[in-house]
Amino acid sequence: MVNADAPILGIETSCDDTAAAVVRGHRVLSNVVSSQMDHVPYGGVVPELASRAHLRMIGPVVRQALAEAGLDWGNLGGIAVTHAPGLIGSLLVGVSFAKAAAAARGLPFIGINHLEAHLLSVRLSHPEVAPPLVALLASGGHTEIVACRRWHRYRILGTTRDDAAGEAFDKVAVLLGLGYPGGPRIEQLAESGNPEAVAFPRAWLGRGSLDFSFSGLKTAVRNEVARRGGLEALGGNEKADIAAAFQEAVVDVLAAKTLDAGTGEGVGTVLLAGGVAANRPLRDRLEAGCLERGLRFAVPAFRYCGDNGAMVALAGALRLARGERSPWELATIPTLTKTTFGSAAPS
Ligand code: KG4
Ligand code: ZN
Repeated sequence: MVNADAPILGIETSCDDTAAAVVRGHRVLSNVVSSQMDHVPYGGVVPELASRAHLRMIGPVVRQALAEAGLDWGNLGGIAVTHAPGLIGSLLVGVSFAKAAAAARGLPFIGINHLEAHLLSVRLSHPEVAPPLVALLASGGHTEIVACRRWHRYRILGTTRDDAAGEAFDKVAVLLGLGYPGGPRIEQLAESGNPEAVAFPRAWLGRGSLDFSFSGLKTAVRNEVARRGGLEALGGNEKADIAAAFQEAVVDVLAAKTLDAGTGEGVGTVLLAGGVAANRPLRDRLEAGCLERGLRFAVPAFRYCGDNGAMVALAGALRLARGERSPWELATIPTLTKTTFGSAAPS
């Protein structure tokens, strides 16, 4: 059993951020994120470039995380690393590094599911949050509504049938010539646009469904741009209107389904996490909806919304303190499977 107050190193390399952090209890002692710029010209993450950039950055990022925490390897109580889901080549860099470091220093080692780390990231900002709860996890790779009645046990209530919410932001940003990553750029442009300028479709997917679909919305944006004569013909105001109307359509569906899940599950708390949780209109909409329904709403500080090592370190600290360990053979798993998401046992 690892002491709950021992500093834990968390390593995250599942996608395009090389990240490491040291957490003691719920306190973040350091949080270093190196975001890869290699993908900007391509409008999306290029897996091979991501793995190579992780290889370049993993050593310096981990060293900096230890230095900023004022600690050495010998002070650590354990090492946690994201091992699923994500890009296989990217995951392998972090997992191999973590295994080697843990073996060399004789430290406890644990693999963490990326979605559990996002969910638990809320506790970095709000340590008092507790189940029963419902969480919307929305990032570039995932859009999941999850129920949790006991920490580390999760039930997936809804998921995307095609694009993830963040992926939709990224693809629409390319259609509007805004570059990558799309989420923050669309949000900023949307501030000067009229969300009612275009009536984009909302995919509700049938009564009671908590699943999502964003590919039709993306096609509708492409058609709207074409109808107006193509990207080059679009004025600044038109772009802002399309961005605002697109964002409104995404926020409408994400918020409505999450609130329905919160009410339907009879929980007291709703969480929002993942890269898309940085979106101000989405945070505001969910907060207002929760207030109306008497639900507690919690979201991480902005710096813990996108991928980071602190959320992995916290998840690791909590699991190590329960006596859990991963074997040296721990696999890297690219997809979200029942075995990797908090045991996925029915709650
Ligand atoms: O969690 P994250 O950093 O990486 C993954 O696990 O995928 O999420 C990145 C995603 C990107 O698709 C990015 O466009 C989106 O989060 N994102 C946003 C905002 N900031 C980041 N989407 C909407 N609004 C934002 N402000
Ligand atoms: Zn993520």
